[in-house]
Amino acid sequence: MIKLQNVSKSYRVDEDTIFYALKKVSLEIKETEFVSITGPSGSGKSTLMHLIGLLDKPSSGDVIIQGKKISQLSDDELSTLRNEFVGFVFQQFNLIPKLSVLENVLLPTVYARKKLNYDPEAKALELLTKFGLIEKKSSFPNKLSGGQQQRVAVLRALIMEPKLILADEPTGNLDSKSGHDIMKLLGELNRNEKITIVVVTHEADIAAYGKRVIKVKDGQVG
Ligand SMILES: Nc1ncnc2c1ncn2[C@@H]1O[C@H](COP(=O)(O)OP(=O)(O)O)[C@@H](O)[C@H]1O
Ligand SMILES: [Mg+2]
Repeated sequence: MIKLQNVSKSYRVDEDTIFYALKKVSLEIKETEFVSITGPSGSGKSTLMHLIGLLDKPSSGDVIIQGKKISQLSDDELSTLRNEFVGFVFQQFNLIPKLSVLENVLLPTVYARKKLNYDPEAKALELLTKFGLIEKKSSFPNKLSGGQQQRVAVLRALIMEPKLILADEPTGNLDSKSGHDIMKLLGELNRNEKITIVVVTHEADIAAYGKRVIKVKDGQVG
């Protein structure tokens, strides 16, 4: 599904210093996998996730998605591919406070770059029903618990029917039970909907939900 070949990501610190957040990383994420990426703070996990999620391009090396090198795609083509392909879940939920739960779930369809072959609102309502949030559809995010907010964020990722869900520290702002509930939900989506899941976490018990664990240390995968 997505392959990284000898990928490095560097940042210029000052005139004569370059910092490598990732050094020659090679890995492959296969369709329907459930992978955890783990490692200490500052090791390069989020940088890696941004590359896998097509949010960023490498400084060197290749990111290959469905057989295509992303270096050969325009920014516009890359955005379209990302929009069709990837759903994101973040530590801070990133819900829009002024929008209701239903509106938050619908938001990606408003910016959709592809023509949807389903009615967005019907799909949002179906997801909210299926995942136990339908009574909250008109509530604003600040009326929800952290666990509920993160569940809304997962549904917002699901509405575009992504092949891949990338979650960066999705349990980082949750109590332990809500955190495990979110991981179980991601596990269910992997098993039942065959969605590929990549979870970034520095917590070992959260990483353990992955069927494969990728360890990052000092910008390298070992
Ligand atoms: N835009 C940037 N400019 C400079 N340094 C960065 C930038 N993004 C990340 N870094 C550095 O790269 C390293 C890895 O960052 P990150 O991938 O966010 O780590 P993690 O998610 O594992 O905590 C850190 O030392 C961080 O300071
Ligand atoms: Mg991070």
